[in-house]
Amino acid sequence: MNLTLNDQQKRIQTLAREFAEKNVKPGAIERDETSTYDVSLFNKMGSLGFIGLPYPEALGGQGMGYLEYALAVEEISKIDASLGISFSVATSLYCGTIFNSSAPENIKKKFMEPVLSGKHLGGFGLTEHSAGSDAAGQTTIATKDGDSYIINGAKCFNTNGPLADYYVIYCLTDPSIGTKSMTCFAVPRSTPGVSIGHIENKMGIRSAQVSDIVLDNVRVPAEYMLAQPGEGFKLAMKTLDCGRIGVAAQGLGIAEGAFEIARKYMMEREQFGKSLNKQQYLAFKMAELYTKIEAARLLVYRAALVHDEGGRFSVDAAMAKMTATDVAMEVTTEAVQMLGGNGYMREYEVERMMRDAKITQIYEGTNEIQRLVISGQIFR
Ligand code: CAA
Repeated sequence: MNLTLNDQQKRIQTLAREFAEKNVKPGAIERDETSTYDVSLFNKMGSLGFIGLPYPEALGGQGMGYLEYALAVEEISKIDASLGISFSVATSLYCGTIFNSSAPENIKKKFMEPVLSGKHLGGFGLTEHSAGSDAAGQTTIATKDGDSYIINGAKCFNTNGPLADYYVIYCLTDPSIGTKSMTCFAVPRSTPGVSIGHIENKMGIRSAQVSDIVLDNVRVPAEYMLAQPGEGFKLAMKTLDCGRIGVAAQGLGIAEGAFEIARKYMMEREQFGKSLNKQQYLAFKMAELYTKIEAARLLVYRAALVHDEGGRFSVDAAMAKMTATDVAMEVTTEAVQMLGGNGYMREYEVERMMRDAKITQIYEGTNEIQRLVISGQIFR
């Protein structure tokens, strides 16, 4: 395994960095203040090829790997973690479910291409009010009716939910046998019976749009089934392993973004007759944070590489997600403290990053769930 970036990876990193600085940075504070998502940024990420980075060209992707994708999520999230998670959910969770599924190529292409191109958003419907960490506790039901299935139920905490044109919806075909009948369907938003429920008012990632998705007698053709009944849980788990690399990259980016703001501030701000970086306590604190960021980077890139090399990467993804998001929380909290009163103010941006970091420890499997995955491997 070579953790040195090759020319292609450096090119993607530079492209994503320039896009984030030029297009994403302007308006990031306002989008957070007003909880507004700028769809044109997602469209542009699609036309630059970011959304499709890890998927084959035949399905509308760029034919690269998860490391290239993680580098792009990291760069976007340095500037705006809301856009980072919207990107990650569209690529890893929505398209990932379809790509990892047993669906034929024509169905994969039909549902992946519009999202990989950046023209449409995709959402991932797994979580329900009674099925959070316990993802097996699904209550959404799909009932066979001729050549179709009729889906009834509701999904919550659906990132991209109010804006997406396509969803993947996990559900059961037979509640009496529970997870043994778990399946998943691709569902266009335009299908009669699909509606947007409650839209969340969040602490952080405020410009990302998150909502309930209500399914009321939603009829979908049987060919939109993405997992045979009983295979849905494994499809969700495999897909979440991929998603956790995206969230890990998001955490890494948030940590780096806050670190850089603190670094610049310390070199400019003088107290007691010298700049803050000349105060050894603060300089040493920065040395510790820098080391933690670099350790997280190695885990994130390693998880992506194990994925790309075709190895089993569940534990690598869990370690990367847990570490990078804990580091994001620590670095952003310390950055607010280092900037003092200014750190608490909106225009210095680190308070937004601190609010954004918190959810990365919670979604796509809380960091307690990651510990469950890691310890399960240790005591196998
Ligand atoms: N890949 C493939 N298969 C897997 C797997 C994986 N990573 N993990 C487990 N499985 C398989 C097991 O092999 C087992 O198969 P068999 O029945 O054939 O033996 C089956 O799945 C059940 O496995 P477990 O007994 O380990 O499952 P469990 O019920 O104990 O749950 C869990 C395990 C890790 C706790 C899991 O429920 C989990 O990950 N929960 C967290 C859910 C989550 O991350 N939700 C986030 C939703 S998305 C989101 O956050 C919103 C957003 O938009 C950002």
